[in-house]
Amino acid sequence: MCGIVGYIGWREAAPVIVEGLKSLEYRGYDSFGVATGTDSIMVAKRKGRISEQAECVVGCHGTRGIGHTRWATHGLPDDRNAHPHTDCTGQFAIVHNGIIENYAELRRGLESRDHRFTSDTDSEVIVHLIEEAWEGDFAAAVRSVLPLLRGSYAILALCAGSDEVIAARERSPLVIGLGDSEFFACSDATPIVMYTRDILVLEDGDMAVIREGSVAVENGGEVVAREASYVDYDVEAARKGGFAHFMLKEIFEQSDVFQQSFRLAFSHLETSALLRHAHGISVIACGTSYNASLLFRYFVEKECGTPVRVDLASEYRYLSTPEDEVVIAVSQSGETADTLSALKKAAASGCPTIAITNVQGSSITRAADRTIYTGAGPEISVAATKSYMAQVAAFVGLLAGMTCSETSFVECSVGQAIEESLLTDVSEAVSLCVPASTIFYVGRGIFYPVALEGALKMKEISYIHAEGYAAGEIKHGPFALLSEMTPAVAVCLPGDGYHSMLGNLREMKARGTPLIGIGYGDDIDLQDVTDVCIPIPKGDEYAQVAAVTVIMQRIAYYTALALGRDIDKPRNLAKSVTVE
Ligand code: F6R
Repeated sequence: MCGIVGYIGWREAAPVIVEGLKSLEYRGYDSFGVATGTDSIMVAKRKGRISEQAECVVGCHGTRGIGHTRWATHGLPDDRNAHPHTDCTGQFAIVHNGIIENYAELRRGLESRDHRFTSDTDSEVIVHLIEEAWEGDFAAAVRSVLPLLRGSYAILALCAGSDEVIAARERSPLVIGLGDSEFFACSDATPIVMYTRDILVLEDGDMAVIREGSVAVENGGEVVAREASYVDYDVEAARKGGFAHFMLKEIFEQSDVFQQSFRLAFSHLETSALLRHAHGISVIACGTSYNASLLFRYFVEKECGTPVRVDLASEYRYLSTPEDEVVIAVSQSGETADTLSALKKAAASGCPTIAITNVQGSSITRAADRTIYTGAGPEISVAATKSYMAQVAAFVGLLAGMTCSETSFVECSVGQAIEESLLTDVSEAVSLCVPASTIFYVGRGIFYPVALEGALKMKEISYIHAEGYAAGEIKHGPFALLSEMTPAVAVCLPGDGYHSMLGNLREMKARGTPLIGIGYGDDIDLQDVTDVCIPIPKGDEYAQVAAVTVIMQRIAYYTALALGRDIDKPRNLAKSVTVE
């Protein structure tokens, strides 16, 4: 949700900021802008992506500056609403990630005092308030404005004639990179790692005054010490490596990712023991992470009998929080605002809390009692693939710890199932999906969450409407939509519910729905009822889940490719959703 980058040091700031913003585009890419300054402030900003028009910042000179890549919340994605925003005099510039909830009231006050606004954003009030508060001391002006702001923010501010860049954070991530006589301030460490691995993670309420040669952090007016941490980040993994898209590359990495993430989670034996003895487990997450969490429910309830509640993080605030539940918050980015708020609510109710995330030092790791990192490595494509597989692996690893099971076969069987499914032909299925108006994804038991995830992938990258359903539910309403234009991707594997699933497929077939079955290659009954049958290798439930997931990801990928979509950066989306 918007990425921000600031630089102060000995290099030209604009090129550093431009490169940084490119690596943060996964947070939003509606528009971008850069401001640099010495005696005066120079601003360049545009609608669209920085990677396509970075040359527009050539007029911005100087060795300190700030920049922004936007995911619009208030105001259209256009040049006017792009950040940085400047005040009426042009002396100050700010970039902001977050939402200023009381901006309307603040704006009315400022307008009544003759401030003229040039954008529809909530953020612009910040720079006008700084202008109003300025009495010759930049840091003092920003310090006096922060208490007026309600909501969430990571702010970087620049002042003509001052040698400072000021950073402030409240419920939006912000880190400071400590280089060699240079400093970086960014939404996360991604833009920083090519210069330095040493970072300070700012806390809520922190304001940092960054000058050439020093960083001073304060909170509530008191100077505070924030310990530097080292970021372990694989720069090579964040390159495309010969693949047409990051998404395809990330799909292909999933065998290693599963094994790595499984081992990491399995090594948390104390956490598994905590879960084993829990009266109940509650899991909170959004989007793809929610779909992975639903799988955990099926696994645990079957293997251990412990009740597992899985809630959408955005709904958790409206629900009860029994204090004898162990609460797990799952978030690839570790920054999703809804998941973070839900986790804080659980912690405040006295529940033991566990974070599962892919990003070191992210906000949920600091809000939870303990953290399990997944081993997906940097995921650049906005659509989550390997981070989902990593979450599934983490859950399987925890489950193995909870049940004290022999585990070596899991890594091997799942790895093999993924490798084989990367090579399976999905072209006939893609041909059925490309002209579709809606695609149904159906499954029973553990394949219901997998169907939800398959549908989510399809809709976000192909823009075709897709819905995941528990197969038994499809006759309770969605039947009214079935036609030749609504193919269904159906998971049908031997085991519990197999015959009911075949029955559901025959009912759909009778209503004209083209059927894409995913099952075993020797299943004649499935071949009879489906138009296209995609085989997966025989294996245990975990291997089946992994194989079906890979097939569904690839169907979505090649459908989006055939439709000419922007696969790594689908319209209107952002990878890190830091607003509620
Ligand atoms: C879909 C996708 C989103 C995220 C969701 C939660 O491909 O990536 O649905 O899963 O925004 O994000 P995290 O896991 O970072 O909390």
